[in-house]
Amino acid sequence: MNGADSVTGVVMKAMSRTPDPRLREIMESLVRHLHAFVREVRPGAEEFEQGLDFIRRLGEACGPEKNEVILLSDLLGVSTLVVMLQKEQEGGGTDPALLGPFWRAQSPRCAPGDSIARDARGGEPLAVAGRVVDPGGKPLAGVLVDVWQASPVGLYENQDPDQPDRNLRGLFETDAQGRFHFRTVRPAGYPVPTDGPCGELLRAQDRHPWRPAHIHFMLSKEGWRTLVTQVFDNADGAIESDVVFGVTPALAGRFERGADGALRLDYEFVMRPGTRRIPRPPLP
Ligand code: BEZ
Ligand code: FE
Repeated sequence: MNGADSVTGVVMKAMSRTPDPRLREIMESLVRHLHAFVREVRPGAEEFEQGLDFIRRLGEACGPEKNEVILLSDLLGVSTLVVMLQKEQEGGGTDPALLGPFWRAQSPRCAPGDSIARDARGGEPLAVAGRVVDPGGKPLAGVLVDVWQASPVGLYENQDPDQPDRNLRGLFETDAQGRFHFRTVRPAGYPVPTDGPCGELLRAQDRHPWRPAHIHFMLSKEGWRTLVTQVFDNADGAIESDVVFGVTPALAGRFERGADGALRLDYEFVMRPGTRRIPRPPLP
């Protein structure tokens, strides 16, 4: 090693025999950008220790209730950037949105029209009706539609001992017209968890922790690219300032009151041909 200028090249050389070309590309880019960041920021010894300790504490704060590593990626806009770049590359279809840390595999299988509110403690009833089509507008039958949402007090069931297991989660299937529908209660906006290192960061940056109210959807079918997205309540005050940057104009849904006074949400999803891939669940 011959001074700061030589370090980057020496590290690149040490990694140059990586047999997997994609891993090599990713690690070279990571080291290039990370070294440029360090050259720009020039952390002192104490700051460097603080930064490393922040990463250690992120890992320590992961468990069955939350995943702070994913949360940091969300708060830095990285999760949203990743899904938006994927959409740009593949073109078209409904805007994707970040998966978030609260999706759980094996949602309860539901019949059309079922309620996913398995808790009798109330909340404003909401009827959700969706339609799934291909890019040409043709209905897609047999799409599995996994939905999950926060409760009227803004908590997911896994965060809240007062909710029954799997409350406000369900798995539906589209019919021959590409339609699905279910009953639920109006979700509330909620703050992302602020009791860990990510909360410290938000406070240090003078940022609010709120997500506007939304319902998560994961649509999957063999031969079609899995669509992970969220539909937001456009009447929510945080719609313009989602702490994890997930809102796009097309995902701002209208929770509308019908003539009978009942609240409903109608939304059309467009899927693209591609590969069905189910993400690794962030929670057990
Ligand atoms: C969510 O939408 O479930 C979520 C996304 C990012 C951070 C926290 C929650
Ligand atoms: Fe959410």
